[in-house]
Amino acid sequence: MVNKLITSSVIRQLAKYFFHSNYSLMFSMEQFKLTLTIKGCSGMGSANIQHTDYSRKNKQLIVMAVVVPEVTLSSSDGLAIPVIGMGTMSSPPVGPEITKDAIIEAIKAGYRHFDTAFVYRTEQPLGEAIAEALRLGLVKSRDELYISSKLWCSFGEKGLILPAINMSLRNLQLDYLDMYLIHWPLKLSEEVRQMPAKKEHISPLDIKSVWEAMEECKSLGLTKGIGVSNFTCKQLEELLSTAKIPPAVNQVEMNPLWQQKKLREFCKARGIQVTAYSPLGAFNTKWGDNRILECYVLEEIAKAKGKTTAQISLRWLYEQEVSSVAKSFNKERMKQNLDIFDWSLTEEESNKISQLPQRKGITFASIFGLHDWLLQLDAED
Ligand SMILES: NC(=O)c1ccc[n+]([C@@H]2O[C@H](COP(=O)([O-])OP(=O)(O)OC[C@H]3O[C@@H](n4cnc5c(N)ncnc54)[C@H](OP(=O)(O)O)[C@@H]3O)[C@@H](O)[C@H]2O)c1
Repeated sequence: MVNKLITSSVIRQLAKYFFHSNYSLMFSMEQFKLTLTIKGCSGMGSANIQHTDYSRKNKQLIVMAVVVPEVTLSSSDGLAIPVIGMGTMSSPPVGPEITKDAIIEAIKAGYRHFDTAFVYRTEQPLGEAIAEALRLGLVKSRDELYISSKLWCSFGEKGLILPAINMSLRNLQLDYLDMYLIHWPLKLSEEVRQMPAKKEHISPLDIKSVWEAMEECKSLGLTKGIGVSNFTCKQLEELLSTAKIPPAVNQVEMNPLWQQKKLREFCKARGIQVTAYSPLGAFNTKWGDNRILECYVLEEIAKAKGKTTAQISLRWLYEQEVSSVAKSFNKERMKQNLDIFDWSLTEEESNKISQLPQRKGITFASIFGLHDWLLQLDAED
């Protein structure tokens, strides 16, 4: 019987072999002969076979696989970032079990990139989900995953960075991170327990000395790559002027209504990969709203293409050559958010999106406090 000959491990091996250029694969059987038809998008990618279907009539075994394309990062020893990752920050916060279960579902759906941070309190459930996924055989080894975490502002001082990354690694039960990011270019004093913080408890980060400690984290093998988050062009310039290892990533808010054109050009010219957070406008969260998911222009494009507005936003980001971290703990929506790689936007649709009026959602002042110098930072690109 065909199903005995074509075991799932054979399919996986074939899929792995061909995945450098495939989105979905179709195997057709002529007696014992196996032929392969290639369908879908191109580009490197991690893959997860979701569905196989054998049709006796057509003698065909159809293998549907989700492949998330990857981009190789600079200054990270060949490390590649899957272009869509799963965010793990929930609003309102949910319990660790819910987070863990959602991450396991996400691994089943094909996600290989997970974004966490010390301050989200999701490092532990993510670590438990990874351990469980390994036990269940959902991934063969930890190396198949791309795990990113972030240095919180309270540890924004040279001597506190090694202890901070070690704490994150312990939380995650991992030996190394794929990416360690400076969460915000700010230092918070120890007293700060909640936001907004008092003016006297926030100061600019000493970028040079903090970055030296980040470089040490990479040299010690505690993380494969180092990067930043919420950095403006000016702050990146300051960092690059003394860095021995340039940042591989700048994770910033980006979506069709906050397109970050200047920052993207700046980063592209310097080999820094932009990762978009709040790609769906952080719908239904404390810090976001419905401006993306209920944007009329995006809704019209979605209707015409038989897609959702979330998919239009994520596809647009992919076409801008940035990676994204989108959060969904809902089984259907997390699958939907990955289903963006075998279709594209027309030139007319892209033009319409590029003309959308722009508005920043997350600002320094909205998170840390309405202080003059933070408002000034918000005015920078
Ligand atoms: N570096 C930073 O400073 C920073 C800041 C913010 C966020 N982040 C990272 O970026 C990740 C994502 O950003 P985000 O959480 O702000 O916002 P987001 O991904 O733009 O939006 C998440 C919200 O959209 C909903 N959603 C997801 N897919 C959907 C779909 N297809 N249709 C309808 N609703 C959908 C989610 O609800 P359900 O879960 O119910 O689907 C959730 O309420 C975070 O989790 C975090 O890892 C980083």
